[in-house]
Amino acid sequence: MRLVLLGAPGAGKGTQAVSLSEAFGLVHVASGDLFREALREGTDLGIQAKSYMDRGQLVPDEVTIMMILGRIARPDCEKGFILDGFPRTLEQAQALEEALKKEAKAIDKVLYIKVSVEELVKRLSGRCVCRVCQMPYHNTYCAPEANGICDRCGGQLFQRPDDNDETVKERVKVYFSNTAPLIDYYTKAGKLQEVNGGQEVEIVARELVAATT
Ligand code: AP5
Repeated sequence: MRLVLLGAPGAGKGTQAVSLSEAFGLVHVASGDLFREALREGTDLGIQAKSYMDRGQLVPDEVTIMMILGRIARPDCEKGFILDGFPRTLEQAQALEEALKKEAKAIDKVLYIKVSVEELVKRLSGRCVCRVCQMPYHNTYCAPEANGICDRCGGQLFQRPDDNDETVKERVKVYFSNTAPLIDYYTKAGKLQEVNGGQEVEIVARELVAATT
């Protein structure tokens, strides 16, 4: 199974991808996580991506497409994957479709997690993320058992530098101009399933699992 999780910044893509990948045994491929990993390793890709991420802008398509297509071509993705944060532009969606088509493959479902802008802002302002496994938490909604420590791997939690008010506003703006058109693109392709992401994490998770079958 090959899935795409679509939704605005803070919609819950990362949170839900973790449980979906466990439920279906799929590899979780998150473009933002890959950029942050590259930055931690000090690679050219990471350094280049940082300047865009800090401003809430999209990393250029060419670079992003190459990174993701390279990742999903690895053997662990052979049985399936969940894309989180990719595609984010029509160019990225078309490149993905063409690359899969060459292998006689296709995206099976696009799960669109819909959340109001007010809720997105609340979620991002209270978010903290694990430095090691990148699992997202929230001070109020999804607090870790021990303050500042990841429940999953024991890593330290931190606030992402792009979760400040100004960058969040820009990321939401960029989402509506560049990524929201994909809702129409995948609806026309007959692949889109919309889920109300404004509900509790467990309810959203249940509805996403149901939407994939
Ligand atoms: P990326 O890391 O992909 O960030 P994003 O899309 O902005 O998404 P987020 O990680 O902010 O949100 P999410 O939907 O995963 O929500 P989460 O589960 O954490 O991208 C960062 C940057 O990288 C981009 O700005 C861009 O520069 C670059 N980039 C990445 N991909 C790119 C691409 N394809 N092309 C070009 N550039 C790219 O949840 C958010 C919070 O809400 C958490 O605190 C969580 O605990 C909480 N929460 C989750 N679900 C619920 C719920 N149901 N109820 C209450 N709280 C909840």
